[in-house]
Amino acid sequence: MQDSKTSLGLRKLIPEEKAKMLSVGVFLFLSYSTAPVVLGVPPIKIQPEQVHLSYPGVYGSMMVTWTTFDEADSMVEYGLLGGKLFEMMAKGSSTIFVDGGSEKRKLFIHRVTLSALRPGFTYVYHCGSGAGWSDIFYFTALNESSDWSPRFALFGDMGNENPQSLARLQKETQVGMYDVILHIGDFAYDMDEDNARIGDEFMRQVESIAAYVPYMTCPGNHENSYNFSNYRYRFSMPGDTEGLWYSWNVGPAHLISFSTEVYFYTDYGLDLIVKQYEWLKKDLEESNKPENRKSRPWIITMGHRPMYCSNNDHDDCTKFESLVRKGLENLFYLNGVDLELWAHEHTYERLWPVYGFMVYNGSREEPYVNPKAPVHIITGSAGCREKHDGFIPDPRDWSAFRNSDYGYTRMQVFNSTHLYLEQVSDDQNGKVIDSMWLVKEQHGVVAWV
Ligand SMILES: [Fe+2]
Repeated sequence: MQDSKTSLGLRKLIPEEKAKMLSVGVFLFLSYSTAPVVLGVPPIKIQPEQVHLSYPGVYGSMMVTWTTFDEADSMVEYGLLGGKLFEMMAKGSSTIFVDGGSEKRKLFIHRVTLSALRPGFTYVYHCGSGAGWSDIFYFTALNESSDWSPRFALFGDMGNENPQSLARLQKETQVGMYDVILHIGDFAYDMDEDNARIGDEFMRQVESIAAYVPYMTCPGNHENSYNFSNYRYRFSMPGDTEGLWYSWNVGPAHLISFSTEVYFYTDYGLDLIVKQYEWLKKDLEESNKPENRKSRPWIITMGHRPMYCSNNDHDDCTKFESLVRKGLENLFYLNGVDLELWAHEHTYERLWPVYGFMVYNGSREEPYVNPKAPVHIITGSAGCREKHDGFIPDPRDWSAFRNSDYGYTRMQVFNSTHLYLEQVSDDQNGKVIDSMWLVKEQHGVVAWV
């Protein structure tokens, strides 16, 4: 069983334990004093924590999610930056999450949707109830127009232990470098461990980024315990699948998030493969309607386990028999998906435009200008206790660039034709070690011809 450790190798105290220790300390002190004093117990169980944002997919809205360990009301007080603090209030509700571990720990997951926000304006907020309020955070409401250039940080495989990229992401997020963060599966390592205390600890760690911009997710293999329940309860993604698959629009992009894990944890239902496939097919048909593709020309997918990779860890992508590729490559190709974002391998790899193991570069000189197949990026090197993965010595033709530094990816969808990606190495003090422009004058399956 995994415990969270301090730098001295001591296990970190969770708030309930801190409260208990405090009470014991006060009791010992009072045992040696003469004056009778009434002890106060901090309201720790109803203190909001693990605050994070997500975008519900409806313009002018933002979802705030947090945790308490006892029942409390769900309220967000907020106001425009520079205006009167907390002049507005929204109410929501909480869901009881009972972890599947032996202690059956009970968490109250609070959700409040803020609506009628002014796109592009920054709001200051806190959440909780009269029984306890969170710290103060701020966010900028997403611009509803398709005519702006959203900026993303994206990565997968970030753990409670050794989350090396987190400090850099904290600063960059808080100074406003990103509009959205995409976490492409594998959280905490693992959220269910130590009766879900590792999940609590991880959600406290990422509050420093996730309370400031929408933190959009997809499930990875490390979320599989108890049918992905920690993932399904703790996050609040759009749609009605508890975050397993959903899509949303931002700027000139349509983003599709899905679960690669339906192909691997079939005990939870073989029917999920079909349900997800049918949903993806319908979503792609809808987003390819001429009026939709015109306003959101970029279709970008994110899923945890890649279709292609050149690592040496015996995953199915390393053996060139990826179940995800078998299940979805044709669907994505035939619907003109532009860019596919993956993680799972604890490295960074950029691929040439690829379909069916064949490279389809736009041209020899400009491979990413009008490519004839989707482009894949694997970015799973944010940092976790499993450290790095290795590479096979001789990558196949479709592998364009590989690096095993800890780091993450930045992406900006500039406009209908230009998308920029760069890879940040945390090991090299934030150096950009790879970058590319994906340029497409046409989108959709017609672009492949
Ligand atoms: Fe993974």
